[in-house]
Amino acid sequence: MSGKQVYIFDTTLRDGEQVPGCKLNTEEKVDLAVRLEEMGVDILEAGFPVSSPGDFQSVTMISRTLKHAVVCGLTRAVQKDIEVAAQALKYAKRSRIHTGIGTSDSHIKGKFNSNREDILKRAVQCVKWARNFTDDVEFYAEDAGRTDNEYLARICEAVVNAGATTLNIPDTTGYCLPHQYGEKIAFLVNNVPNIDKAVISCHCHNDLGLATANAIAGVIGGARQIECTINGLGERAGNTSLEEVVMIINQHKHLGFYTNINPKLLNPMSRLVSDTMRMPVQPNKAIVGSNAFSHSSGIHQDGFLKDATTYEIINPVEVGADESKIVLTARSGRSALAFRLQQLGFTFNRNDIDVIYESFLKTADVKKEVMQEDLYELANAYQLQVSPVN
Ligand code: KIV
Ligand code: ZN
Repeated sequence: MSGKQVYIFDTTLRDGEQVPGCKLNTEEKVDLAVRLEEMGVDILEAGFPVSSPGDFQSVTMISRTLKHAVVCGLTRAVQKDIEVAAQALKYAKRSRIHTGIGTSDSHIKGKFNSNREDILKRAVQCVKWARNFTDDVEFYAEDAGRTDNEYLARICEAVVNAGATTLNIPDTTGYCLPHQYGEKIAFLVNNVPNIDKAVISCHCHNDLGLATANAIAGVIGGARQIECTINGLGERAGNTSLEEVVMIINQHKHLGFYTNINPKLLNPMSRLVSDTMRMPVQPNKAIVGSNAFSHSSGIHQDGFLKDATTYEIINPVEVGADESKIVLTARSGRSALAFRLQQLGFTFNRNDIDVIYESFLKTADVKKEVMQEDLYELANAYQLQVSPVN
């Protein structure tokens, strides 16, 4: 691999599992964790151990099971949380404690009824507690997206001095525009004196549909870890989608980055998570939606059938999806109709297709999609018309 590595921190089992209706039991979590590790995630956030006995059990079992990925447990800036997380992570080959506190004025006043100096002390304290258990400590500055940059830089410097090795800069409310988030990361790179001792991580929410764009802007700004979930699951409108950032990095090689993810496993993984969490994937979802490789308008179908790269920037095989589909609707053209009929074993000449196309349009106008059985009917009716049985 050439270029700089972007670490993939998967939080499907923590932020993703917070989604109403997506709750998993320990067995389901362990199964997904094994598959996520096989797919190549570098760090796997297994849960929030102090939150419930079930989550404690899941983090413990994942810690016992995974072979090489770093297993991470979330905590608040509370000593008990950190001790419980350390307990759940104790069997992990490589463990990380993810601790932190809200740093925006909104969180400092509205949530903690506190002040910036007190929050800075609590931030340093929680990192020190966590360092008693592991030398891999990630600090999150919750709502960093709306935190004053100068203050955020002070906090980052202080927690790195206290032993944090990863700095998570969450856009918790999904508020930032991509250029603002990218500039925030670049500001930290340029203004935190000990920044070379830590990896900066992007954790972006999708409230304005910008989670993926923001994470990529963060990496361009100097971050080297992305926190993301399969199918973009997560609190409210979700998190950065793992499949999207991985394929953006793959497609735009000129950016000079790579990840460890095997892209062929993206679609199988998406289906597995969707089935296990009973959470359908929207059909138009990038990379893993059922329409991601379907072509339905005549102009697109004609171009695609002549040369797939005219309308596809990714070969579906590369991301483990089914082959591209030519879907027949009232917007489809003659070449798509001929192609689909040919797939069913009918070879008609251009004149035949012109005639069948007229009947096809009538069917297409009353149905959302012309299906295989409709095609058989159209083809058989035409054959009877041109050579009737006596
Ligand atoms: O969105 C967020 O800020 C979080 C933190 C707990 C990392 O999920
Ligand atoms: Zn989050």
